[in-house]
Amino acid sequence: MAVGVAGLRGAFGNGAEHRASAIVDTMQGGGEPMHAGFRRAHARGLCVSGRFIASGDAAALSSAGLFAAGESQVLGRMSIGGGSPVAPEASAGVRSMALAITQADGQQWRMAMNTPPVLAVGTPEAFHDQLRAMAPDPATGKPDPARIAAFFEAHPESAAFRAWQAAYTASDSWANTQYHGINAFVLVDAQGQRQPVRWTMVPEASFVPLGDGAHSDDALSREFQQRLADGPLRWTLRLQLAEPGDPVDNGALPWPDTRRTVDAGTVELTSARPQEGGDCNGLNFDPLVLPEGIEPSDDPVLHARRAAYAESLRRRARETLLEGAP
Ligand code: HEM
Repeated sequence: MAVGVAGLRGAFGNGAEHRASAIVDTMQGGGEPMHAGFRRAHARGLCVSGRFIASGDAAALSSAGLFAAGESQVLGRMSIGGGSPVAPEASAGVRSMALAITQADGQQWRMAMNTPPVLAVGTPEAFHDQLRAMAPDPATGKPDPARIAAFFEAHPESAAFRAWQAAYTASDSWANTQYHGINAFVLVDAQGQRQPVRWTMVPEASFVPLGDGAHSDDALSREFQQRLADGPLRWTLRLQLAEPGDPVDNGALPWPDTRRTVDAGTVELTSARPQEGGDCNGLNFDPLVLPEGIEPSDDPVLHARRAAYAESLRRRARETLLEGAP
């Protein structure tokens, strides 16, 4: 038991639980939760499922069974950024895809991906400062643009993120959106060779910009379910391979576009349903749940994410139990 607890502490990193609790407090606005029972981030979403069809091309890089040519089951969630389960979907600044891919031997790869290819900052402390800078001003109830601008000025490492944000045009669907894993991971092959990677989900559906007209609050959910009625939706899982010297511990710093890529396979989604009472609702898409053959990089944000996702799940599970929330 003592060994187990010590192991768990080690896995969460020193002080990570304390910091996670503070970060999740900031995410929920500092006081009582406004939306009991819901995720403290990416609160609005849909449960989805389907399969991952491996090309076999990444099997030489990683011994994980899911990369060998063949199929694995997928349970996932499409969502928007933010802590409100009733926020309008189409205009959200961040869209997301989270997946749990289960190998034939039961081992899972859980991943949570966002629209930006990079983070604004590279450490959990700076990420927490960013959340504070972006929090609504109590006087106006809205974020303070001057405070946000001052934050970015104090963090020059946010240059790539800001360039992405300035060029970003939202599409009209979750289906034709690219999603990025952002933090680096390490693929390990059968001989123990290690290759740091990042990845992108590249949609098969073609890009159509989001129109200027009015959109219902649930525009993305409705549209996604309508598309699925016409057939499966697909993304290519494209791995980007780091070269020596590329930063593997800082999600704010992109790697050159010229890096070699390997298409590991296709994610095919075939069904979607509301998250309330859905099979993805109780799932924590902890990015450190990994099969053998995929390991975390030294990026400290990964460990902060594990601790924060666990804290959010603890809170929402307790609320669901005590208050009957979804
Ligand atoms: C220190 C950095 C981060 C913190 C503290 C953080 C925190 C959180 C928390 C608390 C949740 C709710 C978890 C739950 O209740 O199940 C969440 C969900 C999520 N996060 Fe993060 N996050 C961070 C970075 C990232 C990054 C870099 C990405 C993308 C690469 C990401 C993508 C997501 C997604 C997609 C979800 C929703 C997962 C789902 O559908 O259940 N997060 N995050």
